[in-house]
Amino acid sequence: MNVLEERILQDGVVLNGEVLKVDAFLNHQIDPVLMQKIGEEFAARFTDKKITKIITIESSGIAPAVFTGLILGVPVIVAKKNTSITMTDSLVSANVYSFTKQQHYTITISKKFLSSDDHVLIIDDFLANGQAALGLLDICEEMDCSVSGVGIVIEKSFQDGREKLTDKGIDIYSMARIKSLENNTVTFM
Ligand code: G4P
Ligand code: NA
Ligand code: NA
Repeated sequence: MNVLEERILQDGVVLNGEVLKVDAFLNHQIDPVLMQKIGEEFAARFTDKKITKIITIESSGIAPAVFTGLILGVPVIVAKKNTSITMTDSLVSANVYSFTKQQHYTITISKKFLSSDDHVLIIDDFLANGQAALGLLDICEEMDCSVSGVGIVIEKSFQDGREKLTDKGIDIYSMARIKSLENNTVTFM
C-alpha cells in the first residue's frame, strides 16, 4: 500500500457507495507534502517518455500536475472551464460531458502553448468515466501533438474511464485504483 492509499483510508469519506470525498488533502484543503510525493511518482513513471508539456484541467488537477512539472522541468497548461477576458489568443476547445453533474461544459487552451512537436502528459485528480481526459485528448489531436501518457491520482476502476482510454492505446498510470466503494468501504484493486 502506498502513501496515497494509506491517506485515502485515513481521511477519505465514501458518499452513497460511489463517490469518494477527499477534500482533506486533494479537492479543498491540499496537502503539499503528499502532492510532492505524487509528483515524484508520476515523474518517475513517465521519465522515459521525453515529456515536453503537462496538461490538466482546473481546479483539482493543478496541484499534482505542478509538482510533476517541477520534477520533470516542463510547463503545466491548465485547461480552463471558463474562458477569461485575458484569453485573447487563438483558442482550441473540446466539449466534455460530466456524468456526475449531468451537464456539458467546454474546456479551452490557448493554441500558442501547444505545437505538433509536443509530447504531452495529461494529469488529473480523478478518473471516473474518462470524459475530462477524452476532452483533453481531443484538444491534443486537434493540435497534432502526441499524448505520451495519462497520470491519475485516484482511479475509480468500477467506472469505465480506464477502458475508454486504453481502447485508444493510451498509457495510463493511476496512483490509487479503487475497485469498489460498496458498503461505504474503500477496496483497492
Ligand atoms: P469524468 O471526467 O471521469 O467523466 O468524471 P465526471 O465528469 O464524472 O466528474 C466530474 C467531476 O467530479 C470532476 O471534478 C471529477 O474529478 C470529479 N469526481 C468524479 N468522481 C469523483 C469522486 O468519487 N470523488 C471526488 N472527490 N471527485 C470525483 P471537477 O468537477 O472537474 O472538479 P474540480 O477539478 O474543480 O475539483
Ligand atoms: Na478534476
Ligand atoms: Na475534482
